[in-house]
Amino acid sequence: MKRLTIITLFSASLALVSCSQKTADERFIDNLMSQMTLNEKLGQLNLPVGGDIVSGTVKGTELDSLILSGKIGGFFNIKGVEEISRLQHLAVEQGPHGIPLLVGADVVHGYETIFPIPLALSCSWDSTAVEQMARISAIEATADGVNWNYSPMVDICRDPRWGRIAEGSGEDPYLGSVMARAYIRGYQGDDMTNDSTLMACVKHFALYGAAEGGRDYNAVDMSRENMFNYYLPPFHAAIKQGVGSLMTSFNLINGQHATSSGWLVNDVLRSDWAFNGLVVTDYGSVPEVATMGCASENDAAVVTIKAGTDMDMVSGLFVNTLEDALHRGAITEKMIDDACRRVLRAKQQLGLFDNPYKYCNRERVKNDIFNTAHREVAQQIATETFVLLKNQDELLPLKQKGKIALIGPLADAGNNMCGCWSMLCNDQLHKSLLQAMQETVDGSAEILYAQGCNIYYDETVQQNAMGLRPIGRGDDSRLHREALEVAAKADVIVAAMGECADMSGESASRADITIPDTQRDLLRKLVATGKSVVLLLFTGRPLVLDWESDHIPAILNVWFGGSEAGEAIADVIFGKKNPSGKLTVTFPRAVGQIPVYYNHLMSSHPDPQDGVFNRYCSNYIDISNEPLYPFGYGLSYTTFKYGAVEMEGNEVCVNITNTGTVEGTEIAQLYIRDKVAQIARPVKELKAYQRITLKPGETQQITFSITPDILGYYNANSDYVCDSGIFEIMVGPDSRMLQTLEYVFNQ
Ligand code: BGC
Repeated sequence: MKRLTIITLFSASLALVSCSQKTADERFIDNLMSQMTLNEKLGQLNLPVGGDIVSGTVKGTELDSLILSGKIGGFFNIKGVEEISRLQHLAVEQGPHGIPLLVGADVVHGYETIFPIPLALSCSWDSTAVEQMARISAIEATADGVNWNYSPMVDICRDPRWGRIAEGSGEDPYLGSVMARAYIRGYQGDDMTNDSTLMACVKHFALYGAAEGGRDYNAVDMSRENMFNYYLPPFHAAIKQGVGSLMTSFNLINGQHATSSGWLVNDVLRSDWAFNGLVVTDYGSVPEVATMGCASENDAAVVTIKAGTDMDMVSGLFVNTLEDALHRGAITEKMIDDACRRVLRAKQQLGLFDNPYKYCNRERVKNDIFNTAHREVAQQIATETFVLLKNQDELLPLKQKGKIALIGPLADAGNNMCGCWSMLCNDQLHKSLLQAMQETVDGSAEILYAQGCNIYYDETVQQNAMGLRPIGRGDDSRLHREALEVAAKADVIVAAMGECADMSGESASRADITIPDTQRDLLRKLVATGKSVVLLLFTGRPLVLDWESDHIPAILNVWFGGSEAGEAIADVIFGKKNPSGKLTVTFPRAVGQIPVYYNHLMSSHPDPQDGVFNRYCSNYIDISNEPLYPFGYGLSYTTFKYGAVEMEGNEVCVNITNTGTVEGTEIAQLYIRDKVAQIARPVKELKAYQRITLKPGETQQITFSITPDILGYYNANSDYVCDSGIFEIMVGPDSRMLQTLEYVFNQ
């Protein structure tokens, strides 16, 4: 009842201009909070898990009693509008003050229509496509009751051993920022009170991608210069884009837990960046603050709320220990009030106080989820994310004729097309590559199939790798033999190999990032047949492909392309679509090169890069410094010629011509180098790019503007500065093949 009175007053003021509207919103929250007890306020800070998303179980009675006693601000990990709607009704109709619930989920690259993994999405360099995928994700998730999405994941990563590299946009802060903004625009739209938009949550704050040794959850020790110039920019971009919420991370940062770091949350996020939105911890992070030695068990919640975080995911320590902490003077009531206000504000921003059931429209489930229109977009976007790493003698695209041997453990595994965050979909509905290829050729070519091998020889390692999406096991010698029999009958061999879906993502670090043993052995045998081999590489991270790049004529990296991956791969290998993806993360030559990334600093004894070992230079005795495939690299079925790069004033321009025989999309990249600065700057940094589509023979001029904001950097005081002086301006098709000009900048 009280709630309704407040809402009437509140709606009456809707016509007011936004500034006074804000005041009205704040007055509404003041009024509501004035009626809440301390325990009810603490309840708003509690975010329990609603069930097990994989098994579909729901903590029904447990959640019901939390709701009825006002000990919950929201929940996550329940799928389905029926149950979500029931719980929302319970909260609004029977919970104290009728406060609606936040309903969270990890809709990271699609809900039921699954798009490629975020690392792949970034390789499209197509922010419009990423925004579109986020829009569709929001439509589907909101149709099923979700109002809060734990995405985008914007962690920069320079270490492909870390499995969660799959969830982010690669190694570059500029591209990572472009993508972060696109995700947020797609999820939140212009208006979060709309019933098909939801609140985004940028994560994981911060430096999670720099986990030592690439081992998940591991500690990070990093200079402020490194943080501000490379790891924090995508978070800052997300805040400037208006993201509604942020999630802290699991790792230590220079000895402080990220979740309880007052410097990170209060100083950088809230004070310097003026973020006033909701901050949630990661899953069970609060007690881990104690486990990691940053507070006593008694004080884990105290230091976390003091740092400026608002909601406690899963642990229950905020709701269960902060009242006592207040009484013993460890925290102030204002800290609880501030956190509670930010949770209520998030609900208000979503329009939940006006209409708590806006995400409970069962009609939408039938029409808005996994529909043909969404799947067509997913298929189109997937084709943009594949990266053609090698294509000797134009082996690809394949003709739809003769006999094609499709071999490998990923060839007929429809359940492994989606990659890490796809627990919400029904993978029984996804075609395998074999099915999609058969449908595409429709009898004009014969597709011969053999599984060929397991993922790993060792069953235990395979089990560790496999997670929840099984691929049947057989005897490797028999499987290899069968594959060779099939290969013997074929004109060309397509090997669908690499990682299975659960080998990347959370808690999926690898020390050896080659294609696993039995698969690599089979590849060698297939190459030894003398027939042409195309490697379709499934992976959630850069792999070391030294042998493959020397011996296999064509390599198409298809990552994990989502629910429509089979069809999208068929479109590309048979030439209906021309690949245009370019790497957003460096592919090393050997694990020993890691970390290897394009925007590195200069060493004191630079390597002359003549391919020869140079004593007293910064190089290795046994291998070159150069990565196998550099950042920004990717081929096409056509070729592009860059004319001479020219500069006029602040404008850099270049003509690009499609010199091949088919239409193609090129991603032209601009890098800069600040030759002399207050702190040494990288040898190159991406600052702009353009995607252009050209018909055969067509030429287009592209222009980049050099503006002071792209020349700046964070100095040793973490101030953003821009020095007068000489800059190198580099333009080209990837981070290696660049034309360089000099540019003098005067303040
Ligand atoms: C992950 C987060 C995720 C959360 C909720 C954690 O384990 O680190 O990325 O949002 O679980 O599912």
